[in-house]
Amino acid sequence: MSYPTSDSNTASRQPITVPKFVGFKAAGHKISMLTAYDYALASLLDSTGIEGILVGDSISMVVQGHSTTLPVTLDEIIYHAEMVGRAVRHALVVVDMPFPAGHLGTHEAVASAGRILKETRCQAVKLEGGAEQAGVIAALVAAGIPVMAHCGLRPQSVHVLGGYKVQRERERLLFDARAAADAGAFAIVLECIPADLATDITAAVPVPTIGIGAGAGCDGQVLVSHDMLGLTEGHVPRFVKTYANLRETICEAVDRYRDDVRAARFPDEGTTFH
Ligand code: KIV
Repeated sequence: MSYPTSDSNTASRQPITVPKFVGFKAAGHKISMLTAYDYALASLLDSTGIEGILVGDSISMVVQGHSTTLPVTLDEIIYHAEMVGRAVRHALVVVDMPFPAGHLGTHEAVASAGRILKETRCQAVKLEGGAEQAGVIAALVAAGIPVMAHCGLRPQSVHVLGGYKVQRERERLLFDARAAADAGAFAIVLECIPADLATDITAAVPVPTIGIGAGAGCDGQVLVSHDMLGLTEGHVPRFVKTYANLRETICEAVDRYRDDVRAARFPDEGTTFH
């Protein structure tokens, strides 16, 4: 048996490993991450050279149509992560630990995260929480499972937080981020935090911070692809920049197809067998 070596120069675009991802911070290389939940979008995103792809529990809202991230199950996340893992050659793929998989004790957390790595070819998990999850983060890392922590607004705790609000508790957020990094997290998502506080947290921890609604001072950024591509129906959070309007593009294409079928313009000579 031979292991693929990571120091050969044969491939122009080497896979982004966890240490390489961490190294982007010291190198001052800003990290781009987006979500993907299936093979088609994951391979498209990967072809652009972005550094990270997240199989987020946001799938519960943007794909499954729920109003929170709580309903998606571990089996469902694994089903989708397996498609993403099969598509991606370059980016680091991180998979969300769905509610409440990371909160059932370290044994359950290692079992759930272990299934994610074994069954999906993805390389890391993301776990919502900071100081209170330090024991779980340490146990996962000890088991060989890289962990991206998630501090600030934690959507799985929406009912405790009373809504999707900007998080401003300076000391607690600094404490959470430091505790997550001390426990071995290789990166930390900072969600909905004032920009100056996120910049201070970024300076206080040795691992990359990945912001979403946390300003430009983070080491990288993550967005939900459906939001930034204009696929999401209705309201998107203020921190989203919409780079395309795919709802409009898709609806226009479907309108033209429907009109062609009704007018017997499709199928035409070029799309018909004789
Ligand atoms: O589930 C998700 O998409 C996330 C984000 C950080 C966007 O957790």
